[in-house]
Formats: sequence, C-alpha cells, structure tokens
Amino acid sequence: MGHAGALVLFGVTGDLARKMLLPALYHLTAESRLDLPIIGVAKTDLDLDGLREHAREACGGVHDAAFEKLAGNLRLVTGDYRDPETFAKIREEVAGKGFLVHYLAVPPSLFASVAEGLAGAGLHHEARLVVEKPFGHDLDSARKLNDELLKYFDEDHLRRVDHFLGKEPVEDLMVFRFANMLLEPIWNRNYIRSVQITMAEDFDVRDRGGFYDANGTIRDVVQNHLLQLLAILAMDPPPSTDARAQLDEKWRVLRAVQAIEPGDVVRGQYDGYLDTDGVREGSTTETFVALRAHIDNWRWAGVPWCIRSGKALPTTDLEIVAELRRPPVTMFHGGDSPPGPNLVRFRLQPDAGVTFDVLAKEPGKQHTRPVPVSVDFTKVLGPMEAAYERILADAISGDPRRFARFDLVEESWRIVHRVLDLPDRPLPYAKGSWGPEPAAKVAPGGWHEISTTFD
Ligand code: BG6
Repeated sequence: MGHAGALVLFGVTGDLARKMLLPALYHLTAESRLDLPIIGVAKTDLDLDGLREHAREACGGVHDAAFEKLAGNLRLVTGDYRDPETFAKIREEVAGKGFLVHYLAVPPSLFASVAEGLAGAGLHHEARLVVEKPFGHDLDSARKLNDELLKYFDEDHLRRVDHFLGKEPVEDLMVFRFANMLLEPIWNRNYIRSVQITMAEDFDVRDRGGFYDANGTIRDVVQNHLLQLLAILAMDPPPSTDARAQLDEKWRVLRAVQAIEPGDVVRGQYDGYLDTDGVREGSTTETFVALRAHIDNWRWAGVPWCIRSGKALPTTDLEIVAELRRPPVTMFHGGDSPPGPNLVRFRLQPDAGVTFDVLAKEPGKQHTRPVPVSVDFTKVLGPMEAAYERILADAISGDPRRFARFDLVEESWRIVHRVLDLPDRPLPYAKGSWGPEPAAKVAPGGWHEISTTFD
C-alpha cells in the first residue's frame, strides 16, 4: 500500500487548500502525526516565503513550533499543470523521497492532464493519486475520467475524496449500528416505516455561483455525500472492519437502489439565485431537492428513503430520522391527537449524537396517556477530528476505507441518472423556508422536524 515519503499538493494556493488542507496539515503536524516534505504545486507569483506566509494565514496566523515545522517541510513548484517542465521540476524536488502521494486539489477538468503529466515524468510509479470531488458530471463522464486515470494509476493507487467519509459522526453510524445489538434486529422493513435524510444549509451559494450553477444540489451533495450516508445506514453488516468488506457491502446495497424517477423528485431554486455572480441567465439548476429512493432488497423493499437538501434553508443541520412502524394494537391513546411514532435520530451536524423518541406514561397522573420522551444515547465526549485531517492522514497512510471506490461512484451516478438536468424549471422558494411546498409531500406522512439540540 505504501506510507508516503512525500506529499505533492496540486492547487496549494487554491481555495480548498487554504480553507481545509493547509489547516489540516498543520494540525496533523502539531499532533506529531505528520512530518514529511510537502511539495506545493501552483501557477502562482508567490515564492516559497510567500507560500509559507500564505499557509500561516490559512492556519490562523499561528507562530508556534508546529507551524515552523510545517513551513520547514513546505516546498514550492510553480508552473502550468499542462506543461511537462512543471513535472520535471516536481521530479527534482521528490528525488529519493520514496513513495509519493499526489493530491489534486484542482478543478476536475485538470485531473486527467495532471495524471498524464505525472506519468510523463515517471512520477506515477510508487505513487498514489488522490482526487477531489466531483468525480464526473454523470455516469458516462465519470467512467471516461476513470479510464483516463487508470491509464497511469490502478484502483489500488487511486483515492476519490468524499470528505463526508472523514466525518467522525458518519463513522459513528457504523459503530452505533454494529457495535450494539440494540438496533440491528429492528433495522428492516418489518419495523421501519421510512428513513429521512436531511442536509440543510442556511447559507446560499455565496461566491460559488459558477461552480454551483454547473452542478446543482443533486450533483453537489446527493450523488456523493448523501448516497454514501444511505449506503452506510442501509447496508448489511460487513463481516469485518476490513476495507474491502465494508466497501463491498456498501456496493451491494447501492446496487439494490432503484434509479430515482423524476416523479419521485421535487426540485427548488431559492428566490434571488439568478442574480448571483456566475449563475447563467434563466438557469434551471436546482438549489434544493427532495426525493424518494427505494431499495429493492429483502431488508428494505417498500420502505421509502427520503432525502432532502438545499441552500438557504432555515438551519444548518445534518440529521437522519428513521420512523418506526406503530405497535399493531393501540392500547394507550393520547389526548386530542394520536401519540407520535417512535423515531431514531442520528444527528451528525452541527453536534453529534443518537436520540430515540419514544412514548412514556405521563408522570403523576391517574391515566396512562403516553407522552413523548427523548432518550439520548450518545454524546460526543471530546472534540472531534476535522474530516480533512482524517482524509489526509488516510491519503498518506493508504487506508482506502474513507474514500469512494469506483464501483460505488458508478452506482451512485446510475441512481441519480434520470433526474439530472431535468428540463422543467425548479420551483421557487423563499430563502429561509424548507423549499417549495410540494417538497413536503415527498416524505410519506411529511418530514419530521429536525431536532435543534440534545441539551
Ligand atoms: C461540499 C459541497 O461538498 O460539501 C458544498 O460542495 C457543501 O456545497 C459542503 O456546503 C458541505 O460540507 P460540510 O463539511 O461543510 O458540511
């Protein structure tokens, strides 16, 4: 597999590096988990000192020993990603450094040329290639891109980043499911009525108009992040924590997800989106989506898996709510309204935990009327590690678990294929609302409210 002797970071002066990768590299250095040459590559006027200052700012202006160590490890190669000369300079920098990790924090349109440039300079042997999302624009382009990369790097040496897989609460889904006996016996169509996955963001597309308009919500977060969550939640227990065992189970369940039909989707676009810089005139790109997916297997047949996500919604939250079926006989009646169903809530962001919404006897009363009670199962005990620290650490060590294997990527493109680029205009919605009104009907019985906090 190969632990890296050097990290080659393409796009070192770009947005992703500034916001995520440089701070993550700094934290890993501070925790003594990283100490290797980092060759930043960019088309920039900065010199090495300038890059170090840029990195310092990205890391919050720090002046400590950890930053000095990171700065000491930084190198800079400037040049065009299509120019063989750039790769010749990289080769000089990495000579004798051993196994290489090439991290491509650059636009996907450059992935293939960078891979080719690396190969041209012989930098693809004893090396791993890590690419950021999006991986393709649809099924065909994803396959084409994969074929391009496979010319120089085989699947074992390719890593496709989905930073949601680096989030600790996402991993906790698996621990909660499979380290306990509590959930698994009821985690199927006999007991679960529906599952709802909500990823809400209360901000709009901000300065990302150009990127966002070319993609939309389904490509931006459903095809990758949210289908990965679905896979983790719906898959059968892997026989071990072995990477292959986990990835195989995820693939098996994605394979069973039917292609989503246009009739199962409501798309929205917030008011004012069309005035954003970079957004095409009259654009029909969605900034919100609510959809229903169906999994055709023995565990889940007939259970709707509902997903909604969007920009400019009332809150920033990532929560999964599984609704249990009602008891077959209603012994206890509520007051004016029937008692609510049992819910299992996995809360992933902004805080993390698992809550069961159950019914209990109203205390201090003669009657046995049930009232809702929330039972909190887990709380985060300490600070969580940032997703990109885990992704980078894995990219360097070679652990493939927290990356998207290509067969999973293929399945997720297949699942959303029919609802990409729908010709109809998305329905307008007001900023700060839960999307256009018909979205409410996508989830049978309506969407459950998102819990705001466990405290
Ligand atoms: C990115 C999307 O992949 O994920 C963004 O492009 C989205 O649109 C982001 O805001 C959400 O990630 P996180 O880690 O901030 O929840």
